[in-house]
Amino acid sequence: GGDKLDFEIRPNPAPVSAADRAALLANPGFGRVFTDHMVTIRYADGKGWYDARVEARAPIPMDPASAVLHYAQEIFEGLKAYQSVDGGVTLFRPEANAARFAASARRMAMPELPEQAFLESLEHLVGIDRDWIPSVEGGSLYLRPFMFASEVFLGVRPANEYLYVLIASPVGSYFSGGVQPVTVWVSPDYTRAAPGGTGAAKCGGNYAASLVAQAEAIEHGCDQVVFLDAVERRWVDELGGMNVFFVYDDGSLVTPPLTGTILPGITRESVLRLAERAGHTVAEQPVSFEQWQADAASGRLREVFACGTAAVITPIGEVRHPGGSFTVGDGGPGAVTMSVRQQLVDIQRGAADDEYGWVR
Ligand code: COI
Repeated sequence: GGDKLDFEIRPNPAPVSAADRAALLANPGFGRVFTDHMVTIRYADGKGWYDARVEARAPIPMDPASAVLHYAQEIFEGLKAYQSVDGGVTLFRPEANAARFAASARRMAMPELPEQAFLESLEHLVGIDRDWIPSVEGGSLYLRPFMFASEVFLGVRPANEYLYVLIASPVGSYFSGGVQPVTVWVSPDYTRAAPGGTGAAKCGGNYAASLVAQAEAIEHGCDQVVFLDAVERRWVDELGGMNVFFVYDDGSLVTPPLTGTILPGITRESVLRLAERAGHTVAEQPVSFEQWQADAASGRLREVFACGTAAVITPIGEVRHPGGSFTVGDGGPGAVTMSVRQQLVDIQRGAADDEYGWVR
């Protein structure tokens, strides 16, 4: 380990035909369609990272005693490749994903993949599968790096063998309604992460833990669940798979602070910087559900939005909870929400000045 990895490139001998690909790209949905290739890199204690490959996307043979299948030692990332306005391809802040992947690895007692290997894996896959980037409005190629414990062993301890994999999926909007406001359900029973837990790590287990609450949200006619903190059941943490922002009548934006129970979103951090640049006051401060309700009722709260790589920036129009429901503002997409969204999307597509050096 430590040395630069050489990627062995074996192009897929039977790629999807151009006509079939075009049909798939016309309406990709989210996470259903996949490209022709994947990247894999192996790790073993004492050997480090080795056997980096770009090859045909295919099932991964697994022994039934592979540690990940039992104890869920697994982490992942999500980022997108965009068709840029000048005909090139852009990635948005991939170094931030590399850093968060390493932080997640540390929390889950896994080896860190060097940043350079992470970035090179992205460049190899986007390069070989660049014809899979949708050109439809709002389309992008969602990149999903992940890593799991592949050691065949049932003892409960950090594994000594891992597999890093990168796959890619052409996507449209995460929500089927596109940028229309979504409705959220405030879960009375379930929490996502407790202090000292894995809430700040992007591990599969956090999303497994969200599913029953998310299913409850859907039963109540909602698109996403809102999790409150696990200690007081009072403070807004985040949604099932995205962070949340509040926009007030004085033009200020507030998002819950990174206390260790919240996923440190790269979109979240970018929104804080963009809103500040646009002249808004921004704050990372706790927001209670009680205050959310009161401020929506008084009109002090004008807009609420969800943000994430998959969700981009999506307005939240209505909030449901066991005691009833309320709307935020007039329930429609807010002006601040849509303006921050446009600034973000323009930078991601190379259509606006990249003053922070976010685009690669
Ligand atoms: C992302 O936004 O990329 C995520 O990983 C969250 C998930 C809802 C897809």
